[in-house]
Amino acid sequence: MERRMLVAGNWKMYTTSGEGAVLVQDIAEELRDDLDDVEVVVCPPFTGIKAVSTVIELDHVHMGLGAQDMFWEAEGAFTGAIAPRMLTELRCTHVIVGHSERREFFGETDETVNRKVRAAFDAGLTPIMCCGETLATRDALRTDSFVHGQIMAGAAGLSADEAARLVIAYEPIWAIGSGRTPTPESANDVARAIRATIGAMYGPPTALQLRVLYGGSVKPENAKLFFAEPDIDGALVGGAALKADSFSAIAKAACGT
Ligand code: 13P
Repeated sequence: MERRMLVAGNWKMYTTSGEGAVLVQDIAEELRDDLDDVEVVVCPPFTGIKAVSTVIELDHVHMGLGAQDMFWEAEGAFTGAIAPRMLTELRCTHVIVGHSERREFFGETDETVNRKVRAAFDAGLTPIMCCGETLATRDALRTDSFVHGQIMAGAAGLSADEAARLVIAYEPIWAIGSGRTPTPESANDVARAIRATIGAMYGPPTALQLRVLYGGSVKPENAKLFFAEPDIDGALVGGAALKADSFSAIAKAACGT
């Protein structure tokens, strides 16, 4: 089963709209010849989505556009929230759901993550659903059972076709922004376990189509090691996604793997 590599940049709460437009232009320039074998997605803050979308459209850039979160309702009295169709109107293709920072600072739970995943599919968006353990969970040797629970709850109630199009980002919390990473082999073990969970839920053929990304201190220097692992299909990149040269180097590392 050939799964297309995916490299997504999570810009978090960095870049104004103007800075985001410049960043995506610079990334597009660096990747001009290399975009065919790898799917590249940028995820600016909400306020930058329109400007980035305009650059992608006017410059004919082959790049996906994602939001970092959304609400599951179509509209309503939900102050501060953003609805799926507000994203699709701006030509978003993807949405990150359940990032550990949203779980930690904004009260996201497996249940709200699941509602958002299902709403994303209903709106025609591809969810990038995040999971991953704390250091305490890892030290207690409970990573597999913890992540298994996150996937069982977060990916519940999908059709097999949706589950096959789901993207899951495995991001150990202790590796995010820390410069520390698991070994590529141990990240692959968790990615394989995630695939097995989706296989148990939706059948092995679906699991073979599922893309699992690794995230947490991915840099140009280590990206290829993760991409060489059989169950890792790309990366969700934070800090290194904010510089055109490092992000494009990571995307290029995914070409031909
Ligand atoms: P860093 O690449 O900065 O560790 O962030 C990873 C991340 O959280 C991507 O969503």
